[in-house]
Amino acid sequence: MKFCIIHGSPRRGNTYRLTEMFKQELNTRGDNDYLEFFLPQDMPHFCLGCYNCFLKGEDKCPHAPYIQPILTAIKEADGLIFTSPVYVMGPTAQMKALLDHLGYLYIPHRPLEEMFSKVAMIISTTAGAGTGKVIKTIATNLRYWGVAKIYSCGFKLFAVNWSNIKPAKKERIKSVISKKAATFYHSAQNRAKIKGNIRRYSLFQFCKKLIASYDDDNLDKQYWVEKGWL
Ligand SMILES: Cc1cc2nc3c(=O)[nH]c(=O)nc-3n(C[C@H](O)[C@H](O)[C@H](O)COP(=O)(O)O)c2cc1C
Repeated sequence: MKFCIIHGSPRRGNTYRLTEMFKQELNTRGDNDYLEFFLPQDMPHFCLGCYNCFLKGEDKCPHAPYIQPILTAIKEADGLIFTSPVYVMGPTAQMKALLDHLGYLYIPHRPLEEMFSKVAMIISTTAGAGTGKVIKTIATNLRYWGVAKIYSCGFKLFAVNWSNIKPAKKERIKSVISKKAATFYHSAQNRAKIKGNIRRYSLFQFCKKLIASYDDDNLDKQYWVEKGWL
């Protein structure tokens, strides 16, 4: 299967190590391809707030040459893996910057049908606290993109470096990763059968009415008309 990994940090540290462990577990279950992006190298810009993506089209984003290859990989993947350490009680700024650039994919704008059968895993590590906040921010975005199933695992390590973690704790982490990988892999394999959820359905129905009321030259409306959703 194909997986797209977005690393929210360039550091080959705790989060990277756990992501590698997660990959190893996935690999015990089948042949997999990984397309990996490291932030900020693979998308080094902050959103400028120009509104081009919303109003003129995603190709008019000044950072489209960075964003669109990542989005192509996301579209083609069976499973998405987003990783971020906790930085001051939230995801890394570079992860947030990527998500900002993809706001136009929200269901009230121009969601991709591919997302409706996509599964995602969010992996986060922290010294002491905050993985819940990282997971919540990323998961909220994925939910608004319409991603069908979102899984997560957050680890409180109480250590800056992996070498300072006790062997017993490493074993416990490995066991959690193994179980999470099994669930995620199974879900990715069966993603075509995932039923839509009531939350997404309700938002979609609400947006239908909203978008139908827009002027005909509105880009979001044109998209929804093209998709046959109105
Ligand atoms: C800029 C920065 C901010 C951080 N903020 C927090 C924080 O708010 N709470 C916390 O418990 N740990 C915080 N940490 C610690 C990291 O979340 C933790 O060490 C994590 O495992 C690092 O992951 P990495 O090795 O993949 O970079 C911070 C680390 C950095 C570099």
